[in-house]
Amino acid sequence: MKNFKVGCVLLAAGKGTRMKSETPKVLFDICGKPMIVHLLDTVIKVKEFEKIYIVIGYKADEVKNKILSLYDHKILNKVIFVKQDEQKGSGDALLKVKRYSEKMNCLAVISADVPLISEATIKMLVESHLKEKVECTVLTTTMDNPYGYGRIIRDISKKFIEIVEEVDANDSQKKIKEINTGIYVFSLPVLWKALSKIKPDNKKKEYYLTDAVKYLTTKNALLCSNSDELKGVNTKEDLTEIIDIVRKRIIKKLLLDGVNIHSPDTIYIDLNTKILQDTEIFQGSTICNSEIKSFCKIGPFSYIDTSRIENNTHILYSYIVNTQIGNNCKIGPFSKILDTKICNNVIIGNFAEVIRSVISDNVKIKHHSYIGDTEIENKVNIGAGVITCNYDGVRKNKTYIGQNTFVGSNVNLVAPIKIGKNVLIAAGSTITKDVPDNTLAIARTKEIFKQNHPIIKNLVGK
Ligand code: UD1
Ligand code: MG
Repeated sequence: MKNFKVGCVLLAAGKGTRMKSETPKVLFDICGKPMIVHLLDTVIKVKEFEKIYIVIGYKADEVKNKILSLYDHKILNKVIFVKQDEQKGSGDALLKVKRYSEKMNCLAVISADVPLISEATIKMLVESHLKEKVECTVLTTTMDNPYGYGRIIRDISKKFIEIVEEVDANDSQKKIKEINTGIYVFSLPVLWKALSKIKPDNKKKEYYLTDAVKYLTTKNALLCSNSDELKGVNTKEDLTEIIDIVRKRIIKKLLLDGVNIHSPDTIYIDLNTKILQDTEIFQGSTICNSEIKSFCKIGPFSYIDTSRIENNTHILYSYIVNTQIGNNCKIGPFSKILDTKICNNVIIGNFAEVIRSVISDNVKIKHHSYIGDTEIENKVNIGAGVITCNYDGVRKNKTYIGQNTFVGSNVNLVAPIKIGKNVLIAAGSTITKDVPDNTLAIARTKEIFKQNHPIIKNLVGK
């Protein structure tokens, strides 16, 4: 319709008291994206919306700044932030949009705590509203357990009459399974007149948006069968349900893309992660903000965040954060790797910690080592129990180990220190000075053997 303008309102001013948290409800994370961002990403796709009004109130700046940090100007040009200083109810929140939306002919209103609604459902609701030419269309669904939601009241001819909130419903109304999803389309300006009539004469003493429906004469309740996408988040229990829905969707998509996921119920992968086909993910693993190429084996029980892993690398029972790992590496079991770059064909074994380091090709750090602030060149072997002593109590100091060097077991390298190439450091040495290329370095006290010493005699005599 020419010159017919549709706007969209996201109601996001509430504190989310039932979440029992200082964090604004709409900023809770759902698989790598804040709740409101899930919704905003969907709403942006609906081309019919000329403007998107976001009503903010509780920790308004925090919510606004988060949104401003995630979207570019092109999208933000469509967004208008509307402040509701006092959270007096969803009806009061919507009324705050009035002065910003004079050019609009109708408004789609979506509670920001219903984050999984799809673009198709929003479009269907708007189209139905425009086709039926009513003053209000409420999106409804049926829930097996409708507790907490507003109930849809229909007369004997199934005509939609009103919405009654859970706290205000009588016993027979509480049995109704058709609920208000908190998503509506209202024609303007009749909405403003209806909203001006609502009163906080209910158990919560709030201005309910749902009461405005009573004052509109032509109205529809449109039943949508996909209740999963219409679940609202009011408690942390609701949040875990929503996270699980998204988690399962992510896993389903990865399986379709050819990733092999074992025990999927125990796997958490977020929306910011990309995994290529033929990689296998094993039980109990968490992967966030990361990219993993093909033929890798991840897990069981590994945690990977903000990392990139090339092809055919295996990670077993390990913790990898902010790290790049090349092809054909073997990490774990029980390695901890942080802020590090690891090249190809590297082995990092059990109880090895590597932090702020660069590890070149074909390096082996197989057991019980601490490598910090270190650069290791090609083909270096780090023996069991090697420690880079990088911290002098004030500064973190650097270690450099040249190519083809062999560091024996239980060596301490006191940084800052530079070990040349083709060096052999004898087991048990504590090295405090730079070692030149092609050198054998031994730093340990002379061994003394005293046969038949009195102390031995005592021991034998016992
Ligand atoms: C609301 C509906 C209920 C519906 C349910 C669906 C009302 C009165 N009830 O209940 O019928 O079944 O959603 O999920 O609307 N908000 C503000 N300012 C306020 C109060 C709330 O912006 O002063 C926002 C909240 O941030 C939230 C939305 O409005 O995103 C809904 O508020 P909430 O308190 O969650 O209402 P429900 O009890 O879930
Ligand atoms: Mg709610």
